[in-house]
Amino acid sequence: SIVRRSSVPGVSSVSRRGFASGSAPERKVAVLGAAGGIGQPLSLLMKLNPLVSRLALYDIAGTPGVAADVSHINTRSEVAGFAGEEQLGQALEGADVVIIPAGVPRKPGMTRDDLFNINAGIVKSLCTAIAKYCPHALVNMISNPVNSTVPIAAEVFKKAGTYDEKRLFGVTTLDVVRAKTFYAGKARANVADVNVPVVGGHAGITILPLFSQATPTANLSDEEIEALTKRTQDGGTEVVEAKAGKGSATLSMAYAGAIFADACLKGLNGVPDVVECSFVQSNVTELPFFASKVRLGKNGVEEVLGLGQLTDYEKKGLEALKPELLSSIEKGIKFANAN
Ligand code: NAD
Ligand code: LMR
Repeated sequence: SIVRRSSVPGVSSVSRRGFASGSAPERKVAVLGAAGGIGQPLSLLMKLNPLVSRLALYDIAGTPGVAADVSHINTRSEVAGFAGEEQLGQALEGADVVIIPAGVPRKPGMTRDDLFNINAGIVKSLCTAIAKYCPHALVNMISNPVNSTVPIAAEVFKKAGTYDEKRLFGVTTLDVVRAKTFYAGKARANVADVNVPVVGGHAGITILPLFSQATPTANLSDEEIEALTKRTQDGGTEVVEAKAGKGSATLSMAYAGAIFADACLKGLNGVPDVVECSFVQSNVTELPFFASKVRLGKNGVEEVLGLGQLTDYEKKGLEALKPELLSSIEKGIKFANAN
């Protein structure tokens, strides 16, 4: 029977696609950095997801309060809070999906790469623990710079002998969320019907929305496409500047992170045709990691989908992003192997 448990858009649609939540398999999700600006609303949204049976909220501090608060919500999952490194193992043990929004956010004037020095070390230590306590979990990397933190995670897992390229994802869903919103506004389309693939990476010009493949189609001028592309690429900076020193996107990121984690859970549960864009190990270009549409399945990545037909403008954008993306990837690999 079909059970509708929640009206949170995008988060509960599996129950409409064949799983009553009572019969959905047990799934543990761990959020690392759960007391932060993204972590708190993301924990709330994961608590609302009927596919989750156990929710582990980890941070260096503050998680007992967040967990107590979220745990009172009358949805399926059991919530537990873990604070401090000595509790990290317990937080991770048995996790099917680990979401990582741990680390410092940007302030105005900074690039995502300016976060590297602090966040690279955080990601490295968290991934070392993942390799030890839940080596088969799907890892959803949110911490910036994603273009480098994903390669760092891969190297850490390789060194630990646990690397499975099908299970490591850089979360680029916020770029897709933004591209959909901005496109719907210009194309005067119903935003709920809009789809836009976004490929490349997750920083500045490495973010390449493919508006020529957007649906429903619209007759936008070259200038309009260029403006939409630029706004999508600068979406993070738009929020950083508006927040004026108080951090970067947290609420829209929590939404995007919840959408992507839900897609991972659906894939694990065998729901067919779950496709999201993500920054993964890839053969789509000559770069070792690249964001494109990915089909999710019982083992994580089932298929990395190609780029499809590109316009000349998109082809130019693709060539232009490669050197920056490659250097961010190499920076991550170098860091992981030097430290
Ligand atoms: P925040 O400072 O509000 O929260 C970060 C949290 O991480 C804090 O609670 C902090 O205690 C925790 N933390 C720090 N070190 C930790 C460790 N070793 N283990 C566990 N937790 C640790 O920041 P935020 O606004 O939530 O952003 C977090 C990260 O997400 C930033 O790097 C930001 O750039 C990134 N981000 C990525 C995207 C994306 O699209 N991928 C979007 C928005 C933000
Ligand atoms: C975003 O795209 O909002 C995030 O990557 C945060 C940032 O620094 O812009």
